Amino acid sequence: MLKIVVMVSGGGTNLQAIIDGVKDGKITNTQIAGVISNNRNAYALKRAEENGIPSLCVSPKDYESREIFNEKLLEAVDGFEPDLIVLAGFLVVIPPEMTAKYKNRMINIHPSLIPSFCGKGFYGLKVHEAALERGVKVVGATVHFVDEGTDTGPIILQKAVEVQQGDTPEVLQRRVMEQAEWIILPRAIDLIANGKVRVEAHRTWIEE
Ligand code: GRF
Repeated sequence: MLKIVVMVSGGGTNLQAIIDGVKDGKITNTQIAGVISNNRNAYALKRAEENGIPSLCVSPKDYESREIFNEKLLEAVDGFEPDLIVLAGFLVVIPPEMTAKYKNRMINIHPSLIPSFCGKGFYGLKVHEAALERGVKVVGATVHFVDEGTDTGPIILQKAVEVQQGDTPEVLQRRVMEQAEWIILPRAIDLIANGKVRVEAHRTWIEE
């Protein structure tokens, strides 16, 4: 049984997709051990509570330094003894110690086809604003392992989504969530839970 901790900052629609996937059997062999947010007002925490999932809020605002916050965040994660950490819209920089400790055991969902529109400053609506500004015809989402960089770890799954005439950033964001994020994140967790993802150097191989 793969024990996962899901880290969130906002609405938690990706968390909801994971909760639903475990419930309806799309995600097998997996238990959501806990949810951690940096934002005590994150609706994602309400979703956890409604589904009986233990949750914690660890906010940088509550600590006098980033170093102390980093320590407390890692302590909170370790407390759940996860096999896999899932970053689902978590907007805080992951402490280097945590990235090192959970190498190839921490994944992130990014709302673009990496290496496009990713890296520092590309998060949330900014990703979709940049895509519309560039005039790309295809966008999508990526699930990747987290390494010491920003959105630079080995790619696990990607799914493309068409841009439509007249799309606003908000409309495009929602389509990417519905047609890509909420599909590939649960699928990536199920593949990992069943030992079907292998990492070789900077690439992954999926054994169906
Ligand atoms: C999603 O768009 C995800 O791609 C990005 O942050 C957003 C989180 O949304 N990393 P939600 O909190 O899962 O609804």
